[in-house]
Amino acid sequence: MKILVSDSLSKQGVELLEKAGFTVVVKSKMPKDELFKEIKDADGLIVRSGTKVTEELLAAADKLKVVGRAGSGLDNVDTPAATRRGIVVMNTPGGNTVTTAEHTLSMICAMSRRIPQATASTKGGKWEKDKFMGVELYNKVLGIVGVGQIGSHLTKLAHGIGMRVIAYDPFLASDRAERMGVEMVDLHDLFRRADIISVHTPLTPETKGIINAQTIATMKPGVMIVNCARGGIVHEGDLFDALKNKHVAAAAFDVFEEEPVKAENPLLTLDNFICTPHIGAQTTEAQENVAVGIAEQIADYFKKGIARGA
Ligand code: MLT
Repeated sequence: MKILVSDSLSKQGVELLEKAGFTVVVKSKMPKDELFKEIKDADGLIVRSGTKVTEELLAAADKLKVVGRAGSGLDNVDTPAATRRGIVVMNTPGGNTVTTAEHTLSMICAMSRRIPQATASTKGGKWEKDKFMGVELYNKVLGIVGVGQIGSHLTKLAHGIGMRVIAYDPFLASDRAERMGVEMVDLHDLFRRADIISVHTPLTPETKGIINAQTIATMKPGVMIVNCARGGIVHEGDLFDALKNKHVAAAAFDVFEEEPVKAENPLLTLDNFICTPHIGAQTTEAQENVAVGIAEQIADYFKKGIARGA
């Protein structure tokens, strides 16, 4: 059986599939015609976020039975179209939880102490101690929107540095929130009380633009906003205005409405905006976890008929 891997995948995942007897074809960044040729006789497809698994691509696959996403987000996979064709879609939501939560905490620290700006200044030959006055995180209120696996781990990390955590998540049971030491609040309350707001939801019609001009107006002056989840949860144009007039003191993004972000995106011109290129899950450990995870799931599916993941 042929498994096509069309985005970069840690070698441990490829080796596991090969040992299990699959023929693994690894080709990332293929031109469209080559991808359509390779998919034709593939029984399984493994992607990260690069390959767009569209209805058109699925239609070109004569034998495809499973699409595996090494990672959690399925934005790049047309799951309804796959389901209509009887193709199973799987992901590995747990594999990069720790890494993404750690990246979020890193962004919070970097933003509150202006580390990227201070690095650029120092490397530029300056010694601007007075310019880089930061804020302490101890005792500050972190508002987490979405307490899934990443939001939960971030809660632990934030408690570790003495932050107080309030959260909004309509799906989180109150006894679990209590065990985690999180005060559950409604979204309006969270926006009103948090010193730093971090979003950890998928991008859905309900979450698109939940941070916008109206909701920002209800936040504390000097609030900081982090998005290491999905581009579009925070309305970029409205955030730009709020960063410019300093109602929002700073923001940190790992994700954008359009990726790769365009050089002319106005947010990139602001000194109080820091960003990374969607590297929240980009550690050796997380990439090994998701690669091995998806390889095991695919092998189990073909050999034991067990379907795990989304
Ligand atoms: C994910 O959905 O797993 C993360 O955003 C990481 C990625 O897309 O590479």
